[in-house]
Amino acid sequence: MLDQGGNLYVVGREIVLRVYLAIGAIGLLLLLALAATSFDSVIRRMGGKRWLALHQLVYLIAPLAILHFLIQSKLDVTEAVLMGGLLMLLAFYRLAHRFFPPLDPARALAAGLAAGACTALLEVGWYAGTTGIDPRLVWEANFTPSLGISPAWWVTGTGLAVAVAAVVWQRVKPSRKARGPGSSARKGAEGKAAHDKRAQEKPAKDKARLGVGAT
Ligand code: HEM
Repeated sequence: MLDQGGNLYVVGREIVLRVYLAIGAIGLLLLLALAATSFDSVIRRMGGKRWLALHQLVYLIAPLAILHFLIQSKLDVTEAVLMGGLLMLLAFYRLAHRFFPPLDPARALAAGLAAGACTALLEVGWYAGTTGIDPRLVWEANFTPSLGISPAWWVTGTGLAVAVAAVVWQRVKPSRKARGPGSSARKGAEGKAAHDKRAQEKPAKDKARLGVGAT
């Protein structure tokens, strides 16, 4: 928009004429709708269920943004594929948390591997669909070190790093509680009790604040 010196007619015409701009514009409009309905007063008026249904649109907006990024990248889609891969990694965490809880290090690792494979497939599929390059060549590029680290490996590595961090976190967390008797252990126990109490009360408080179930 700044490139066009703020000329809204030119900006509007370009948006209509170019698919990737239209996709960006739809994404922006949807994001604005989510932003406009993110106030407590609006959420109360809408009711929790309707608000949640509207905000599920984020699962459409994020892929639209990736598609917008992919199309505008033209020939080299490395960065856009990387962003798409990281989004898929988050989606796999969400799915694991929802359908196979708890999201422990083993599941986090599985999510990382799945997202890495899907990233490679996204890259292969995109190049095959838009340029006709032999999918085998794009796939093999993932295993050719001289071509640099591919998005699929970056995503797999991120998944691996998160799984390792989860293992470390699991080991560090109990050791804090296990510190000998005395003030810190007592504080730890009191802290946990207070945390558990807050965790029990929070859903009810949130529901009351947002009017969930009131519709
Ligand atoms: C009316 C709405 C939008 C318009 C007109 C628009 C326009 C553009 C244009 C012209 C580019 C290419 C820039 C360049 O060549 O350097 C671009 C890139 C991009 N846009 Fe949008 N966009 C819109 C909305 C969005 C939204 C909602 C998102 C994300 C949620 C988004 C994410 C991106 C990204 C990630 C890039 C690539 C940036 C890069 O190359 O570094 N855009 N957009």
